[in-house]
Amino acid sequence: MNEAKQHWDADVYRRHADFVPALGRPVLDLLAPKTGERILDLGCGDGTLSVEIAAAGAAVVGIDNSHSMVARAQSRGIDAHVADGQALGFEHEFDAVFSNAALHWMRDADAVLAGVVRALKPDGRFVGEFGGHGNVAAVKVALSAVLERRGTDPRAHLVWYFPTAEAYRERLEAHGFAVSTTELIPRPTPLPTDMAGWLDTFAGPMLSALPESERTAARDEAVALLAPALCDDRGRWTADYVRLRFAARLAQDEGQSAPAG
Ligand SMILES: C[S@@+](CC[C@H](N)C(=O)[O-])C[C@H]1O[C@@H](n2cnc3c(N)ncnc32)[C@H](O)[C@@H]1O
Repeated sequence: MNEAKQHWDADVYRRHADFVPALGRPVLDLLAPKTGERILDLGCGDGTLSVEIAAAGAAVVGIDNSHSMVARAQSRGIDAHVADGQALGFEHEFDAVFSNAALHWMRDADAVLAGVVRALKPDGRFVGEFGGHGNVAAVKVALSAVLERRGTDPRAHLVWYFPTAEAYRERLEAHGFAVSTTELIPRPTPLPTDMAGWLDTFAGPMLSALPESERTAARDEAVALLAPALCDDRGRWTADYVRLRFAARLAQDEGQSAPAG
């Protein structure tokens, strides 16, 4: 993913995608933050879930590479910083790393995991959820079609990282984690607004492969292609989400040694 082409805006995110942190709450249960713990929220966005982790009594640090999102998280009292999750600079200081709906935006999963291993204390845990294999499959097909019709090869631009549960488990294990769960969860998700709003919020990196003058028409064409599959007879949209939820713990001495893979 070309991060430079991601355009996260905290107000747009709040309007079209407040379901993302709301549906992330079961992942917080899996994290089970405790008073006194120090926890990193990786790809914290506007800090909605960071605030909940802090409310459990943990000290939270958030990182995200969107200035707009980090500013919103800071305005909520979160110790948030602009940083690339693929180049974390922390050294063995967190009891846990948490991440919701962010890891599929980070193409270099091994760089992410190497940074998480370095950031964790020995025995630290890594708990999160992100897009898994098959996530927004219909949306990907529609975006492929509209890019292809305009002579743009979609493979260069549709590069979300949506692994299978098996592949991600193996990746975690290669970095020294003992994995307690990796689970694919189909989660058809009613949208609070509509598919145009979803594409405006999440498909910037794909649509920005096109000249600016063509983007709105391409987006509307994708909406029309998706309507028979994802819009009901009352005009309500449901996105074809599939999540990958995982929980893993670092083997005792792994945080001090070079990660595998
Ligand atoms: C769908 S939002 C999820 C935000 C938040 N975790 C939540 O649950 O609402 C994805 C976030 O990942 C961030 N992100 C994408 N690529 C990133 C990267 N390479 N490093 C850090 N953050 C990244 C985006 O800026 C965005 O805020």
